[in-house]
Amino acid sequence: MREFGYEEARTEKIIRPQKPQSGAEFDLWVTKKSARWQRKHFVQIRRYQAIECNDGMLMTTSDECWRDFVAYSFLEDYYDKKTDSLKRWLVGTAGFTDNHTEKVLEYCWIHPFWRGKGLLRYAWPKFSERFGLFHVSHPQSNAMRGFLMSVGHQEPGQVLELAQPTA
Ligand SMILES: CC(C)(COP(=O)(O)OP(=O)(O)OC[C@H]1O[C@@H](n2cnc3c(N)ncnc32)[C@H](O)[C@@H]1OP(=O)(O)O)[C@@H](O)C(=O)NCCC(=O)NCCS
Repeated sequence: MREFGYEEARTEKIIRPQKPQSGAEFDLWVTKKSARWQRKHFVQIRRYQAIECNDGMLMTTSDECWRDFVAYSFLEDYYDKKTDSLKRWLVGTAGFTDNHTEKVLEYCWIHPFWRGKGLLRYAWPKFSERFGLFHVSHPQSNAMRGFLMSVGHQEPGQVLELAQPTA
């Protein structure tokens, strides 16, 4: 993958919302079946998170990486001067492992300009709709912990424990 945007993020701390390919739009849910050009933008967002959270960067654009992987797109309008029209760019993503036995929210990252505006709160019911009960991976940032508290998130195991009859 071309190193577009990674070095400037690492050295100059410049982070950019991701524009779609000319004449195309990002899918709301990107899977292994989605148009391939989208993958590099999700890798780029994941790189931004790796830089901010210092948590390593394991994601690539390969088929192997995307086999059991599904990513949600946080999309916002922007004005495209070239076409004099409104388009949707990618301001964050949430990446899930979905291998049919386990569903895990692996990471979630939103561009700082769009944080605290309810984007994750709005998306959360869509996550539940698609995956049912899912795990949220660790380590978790303070912001994510605050978010999980605010929505009363329960890990799948926790729900089972609560559901067990008491003696
Ligand atoms: C964590 C993150 C994805 C949350 O997304 P968001 O769209 O900004 O969150 P929302 O605006 O939907 O917030 C909903 C609730 O979550 C909680 N919350 C959000 N940000 C918080 C923060 N920084 N600290 C504590 N609680 C927070 C609040 O209860 C908030 O409700 P309120 O706005 O009524 O107070 C986003 O802040 C982010 O990308 N942070 C950097 C990367 C990161 O930490 N990723 C998680 C790694 S595990």
